[in-house]
Amino acid sequence: MTNSYKSRNQDISTFGYSGILTELNKLAKKRSSHLHLSNCDPPAYGYTLDPNIIRKIDQLQISAYTGYPSWNGDEELRSMLSIRIKNITEAHIPAERIIMTNGVSECFPLTFAALFHSTLGSIAIPDPSYIPLMVQARRFGKVWFYECLEENSWNPDFDQMIRMLEKEKDTRALLIITPNSPTGAVYTEKVLKEFINLAGQYNLVIITDEIYDTLTFTEFQSPLQYSEEVPVVYLNGFSKVYRLPGYRLGYIGWYDPNMEYNEVWSYLEQLCKAKFGVSLLAQEIAKLALQESEDHIISFVNSVKKKQSLLNARLIEIEGVSFVPATGGTYVFPKIKFPQIKDEDLAKYMLQEYGIYVTPGSAYGPSVAPGHLRYVSLASEKDLRKGMDILEKSLGDFSS
Ligand SMILES: Cc1ncc(COP(=O)(O)O)c(C=O)c1O
Repeated sequence: MTNSYKSRNQDISTFGYSGILTELNKLAKKRSSHLHLSNCDPPAYGYTLDPNIIRKIDQLQISAYTGYPSWNGDEELRSMLSIRIKNITEAHIPAERIIMTNGVSECFPLTFAALFHSTLGSIAIPDPSYIPLMVQARRFGKVWFYECLEENSWNPDFDQMIRMLEKEKDTRALLIITPNSPTGAVYTEKVLKEFINLAGQYNLVIITDEIYDTLTFTEFQSPLQYSEEVPVVYLNGFSKVYRLPGYRLGYIGWYDPNMEYNEVWSYLEQLCKAKFGVSLLAQEIAKLALQESEDHIISFVNSVKKKQSLLNARLIEIEGVSFVPATGGTYVFPKIKFPQIKDEDLAKYMLQEYGIYVTPGSAYGPSVAPGHLRYVSLASEKDLRKGMDILEKSLGDFSS
C-alpha cells in the first residue's frame, strides 16, 4: 500500500525533514553556538509547571511505576481528560473513547493507519502544515494540501478546497490544526462551521489537532463544538499548554455519534493493544499537571502573548516583511516580500553569519509556505529582539 501511495504523493524532498532542515542542522552543528528561535520546546525557554506541582512530581516514588501500563491508558487520567475535553470543547467523549499515546506525534500514524487500513483514500492537510503530520500522512494515504491564505488572516481558501474535493473524490479525512502551527491562526466559529459543512457534504472525518488549545490570545473554539453528526478524531497532548514535551504524552479522543467509523475505531484499538500503552510514570505526572492552577496557566499564556506583541511591534518596523499577528500558539510566520530572496537562503545566511536559527517556510509545505520564516515566541525578550534585528540586518545585506 505504501508503495502505491509513494508514486501518487508529491515529492516532498524540498519540504518536511529532508532538504533544507537537514542542511540547517548541519550548519548549526558546525558552529560553536547559535540562538535557536524556532523550537517550540517550552521548558527549553524556562516555561515549566507551577512549582507546587513540580514539588509533587519530585515526590513521586518513581520505582513504583515499573510494570506494564494498560494499553489505552490510566482510567483516572482518561476520565480527567474526558472532563477537560467537555470543559473546553463542550463535547462528551467518554473515557472509554480516549486512548493515551506517546505524544500527538504518535496520534498521527495511529489515526492514519486505522483510517486507511481497509479503505484506501486521500487526506486533506493544510499548507502550511506541521511537518511530522505531513511525513506521517503520506505514509498511509494520498495527501493533498488545502491552502491557507495570509491575506485572509491565514484562513483556508474554501473555494480551492472545494475544487480539490471535487477532483480528489476518494478524500476521506480533513485535518485541522487550531491554534495553527506554523501560522498562529485560531479558527473562528464561521471558519469551523465551513470545515464542518464540507466534511458533512463530502462524507469526511475531521481530524483536529488542538495541542495549543488554551494557549490563545482570543477565544478558542474547537470543531467539536459544531460537529453534530460529523465524526471527529480529537488529538491533544501535554507538550505545550502543560509544558511537558519530555514525557511524550498525547491522546486521541473518538467522537463518532452515528458509529459510522466503528471498524476504524476497532482497528485503532488493535494497533494500540499491540504497542502496550505509554509510560506509567508520564501518566502519573500528567494527572498532577492537570491539577495546575488556572492562574499559573494564565500567567504562561500572558507571557507568550507579551512576546508575541514584541515580535509584532518589531515586524511592523521591518521593511520587506508582511505578517499576520498570531491569535494563538507560539509562532509568527512572516513573509519575505522580496521575491529575489529565497527563504532557505535567508535562513542559511542568518545562521551562518549571525548564529540565528529560524526555520524557512519551505519546510512547511509546497505552495503557500515558501517565502516565509517561522519564529517561536518563547525565547527571552532580549533574544527575540536580537532575532528581529538580525532579520532586518540580513534583509538589508541581501537587498543591497
Ligand atoms: C501542531 C502540532 N501538533 C503536534 C505537535 C507535537 O506534539 P507532541 O509533542 O505531543 O508529539 C506539535 C509540536 O510542535 C505541533 O506544533
